[in-house]
Amino acid sequence: MNVPYFDLKAQYASLREEVLAALDCAGSKAAFIQGEDVDAFEQEFAAYCGVKHCVALNSGTSALHLALLAAGVKSGDEVITTPNSFIATAEAISYTGARPVFVDIDPRTANIDHSKITAAVTKRTRVILPVHLYGLPAEMDPILKIAAQHGATVIEDACQAHGARYHGARVGGFGQSAAFSFYPSKNLGAYGEGGALTTNDDAIAAQARALRSHGESQRYFHDSIGFNYRMSGFQGAILRLKLRRLDKWNVRRRELAEIYRRQLAGACVDLQDSSAADERVDHLFVVYVADRDAVRAKLKERGVGTGVHYPLPIHLQKPYQSLGYRQGDFPHTERACERVISMPLYPEMTHEEAAYAAQSLRAILGERE
Ligand SMILES: Cc1ncc(COP(=O)(O)O)c(C=O)c1O
Repeated sequence: MNVPYFDLKAQYASLREEVLAALDCAGSKAAFIQGEDVDAFEQEFAAYCGVKHCVALNSGTSALHLALLAAGVKSGDEVITTPNSFIATAEAISYTGARPVFVDIDPRTANIDHSKITAAVTKRTRVILPVHLYGLPAEMDPILKIAAQHGATVIEDACQAHGARYHGARVGGFGQSAAFSFYPSKNLGAYGEGGALTTNDDAIAAQARALRSHGESQRYFHDSIGFNYRMSGFQGAILRLKLRRLDKWNVRRRELAEIYRRQLAGACVDLQDSSAADERVDHLFVVYVADRDAVRAKLKERGVGTGVHYPLPIHLQKPYQSLGYRQGDFPHTERACERVISMPLYPEMTHEEAAYAAQSLRAILGERE
């Protein structure tokens, strides 16, 4: 059996008629930049997340950048985050001139270890930026408490967690603002780049709206130096029709992840522990194994595609070497990056395919025992 790591074509095939009609409709209105569909999507996504505002943007990276700027982050400030993320989390901090300050992960959840945050706080700390990695919400209660104690703002990186819940509420409304990515492979993916900032704060939303479009207050009158971070009209049309299916797709992802968990019970492999989350959304299903590259090669021989998220922690990436961190500074993150494999997981995958991928992994690990 062949189980690709990911298959975006299967989802397109299932939506083709509706997608073409939506694109035709947006095209006929010549709504190429923002426009009606984007406005409607903003309202629908805000309602979905249970927040007051959604500001549609052209990527999750832009959303993080605007969230940080709107929080007043500037050169000389520090932003606490995790080194176990996609580099964009740190890049957005760097765009503002602030310094990313990393805190190791809890090895059970792969998310920032809240018990280590206080030790990283200084008088320059402006924001704490947890990432809901692989669709599993970070431990928001203690993070919000620490932030309040130190007068810091919380911004969520929810780029991998559309629809996940923590203590009953969907992610996106826990901090001052949150960033979502609609990169095509995300749980809610556009057909190109896309992102959004969510917030319950009217002033933050207004600032993000101005900054996404050159700091414009009225046509060709600019109050600040902004950016071109607008969402295209076609992406708004696609995201609207896909948002209606997000819950169904997330249920499907959870079912598939459950198959992996069942099939891998007792095997020589570590899994991301999600027992504290109300509802994770299984953006990725990761396993941690010794000799990762050899295991991946064997999975490939059996027809199972895999990914690695991420092979090198951010503090060891070239552009961040100047921060002065060293190998060994964040041992749990470094160990995770050495051992992690992302198994195939997407809503159109069959139960049989998930079982085959899991059994293949189990067999490979068994051969080594
Ligand atoms: C955790 C995380 N943060 C930020 C981003 C950046 O989002 P985008 O690729 O839409 O700019 C991503 C997307 O890959 C991500 O996974």
